[in-house]
Amino acid sequence: SDTAIGIHDLSFATTEFVLPHTALADHNGTEIGKYHIGIGQQSMSVPAADEDIVTMGAAAAAPIIARHGAEGIRTVVFATESSIDQAKAAGVYVHSLLGLPSATRVVELKQACYGATAALQFAIGLVHRNPEHRVLVIASDVSKYELDSPGEATQGAAAVAMLVGADPALVRIEEPSGLFTADVMDFWRPNYRDAALVDGQESITAYLQAAQGTWKDYAEQGGRALDEFSAFCYHQPFTKMAYKAHRHLLNYCGHEVDEARVARDLGRTTAYNAVVGNSYTASVYLALAALLDQADDMTGQAIGFLSYGSGSVAEFFAGTVVPGYREHLRTEANREAIDRRKPVDYAGYRELHQRSFPADGGEYATPSQTGGPFRLAGLNGHKRLYERRR
Ligand code: CAA
Repeated sequence: SDTAIGIHDLSFATTEFVLPHTALADHNGTEIGKYHIGIGQQSMSVPAADEDIVTMGAAAAAPIIARHGAEGIRTVVFATESSIDQAKAAGVYVHSLLGLPSATRVVELKQACYGATAALQFAIGLVHRNPEHRVLVIASDVSKYELDSPGEATQGAAAVAMLVGADPALVRIEEPSGLFTADVMDFWRPNYRDAALVDGQESITAYLQAAQGTWKDYAEQGGRALDEFSAFCYHQPFTKMAYKAHRHLLNYCGHEVDEARVARDLGRTTAYNAVVGNSYTASVYLALAALLDQADDMTGQAIGFLSYGSGSVAEFFAGTVVPGYREHLRTEANREAIDRRKPVDYAGYRELHQRSFPADGGEYATPSQTGGPFRLAGLNGHKRLYERRR
């Protein structure tokens, strides 16, 4: 059918605390230029003791439910790679915190940072089957590497919620998609570990190979030419990675790498990721939020999306910006979510990083730190206890 389907609303949330890269550089003796310019990061969001993927996901989704109600939402898909349970979907807690109707299906999806794009595509399929149906897609992650490892500078945390439906108010998602899967060990997190393992240089190479592979398939599927796009939203583990990938793609397509063009294609997509850090599944959609919030009128323009998840799976697809989209943006709330974070010093960050729940799963009350609308109050009998504060 010709039904236009895509992103009807988009909202994001991040953490209570923020660690500036200057504090990390002071601790480990790194020249700050490596962080500010070399990887393109200014600061990273750090979760409070009583924040996690559920509280962030619920905080991102609550404004969407407040604006549109729950009507038509019969599916919630929660994408994450920093899951809190091996069996129960984190989205079930969010469903409860938001008071969604019981006549809902809820599921969690995983494939590293790619999961939210899978969720978006599955949501589009469901809406295609029934255009009355709306799907709430939530991408929420805490990126955590070992202290004093090279990955430490690329941590972060955030959640994006998207309402996917017919006649979307923001962005129509187009066919075709380019797809690419390769079995590589560039980044992974075995079940017994809380911090990810990564082969940094291998992960960059794997990302570039996947970008090229998914673009090749996109072209073969009859997608748009590179020149038709006004901007590109890449997965941004650190913002410099988008630049590396875009230059790689331009080269691969036989274009001269003109830096003015690269700046035009990417410059408006990095503002949120540069101060939030890696938000894994949410990252590519934070890039979209930054673009729509900052760009001059983009009505009718095509945006290219490059979603990459280590391991690895990648997808390239296009979206077109819908007339009137600006009335539906959440620019002020997005800026507020970033500006309200409280700076944490290095010692405070380290303490939060090393926190863990009692292994016996016994009764435990979490320190009250978050100023957000939801909190993880504690544990009891191996059960996580959440509360809505307002
Ligand atoms: N001024 C300016 N630039 C400087 C500098 C200075 N004083 N010092 C160094 N630099 C530059 C370097 O030249 C380098 O730039 P280029 O890559 O353009 O040459 C950049 O800063 C980084 O320096 P290094 O490569 O030496 O940094 P590193 O080895 O310490 O670590 C990293 C970088 C590999 C990204 C590491 O932070 C890491 O492992 N991060 C986690 C993995 C990751 O994010 N991978 C991305 C692809 S995988 C993915 O996308 C999925 C995902 O989300 C994890």
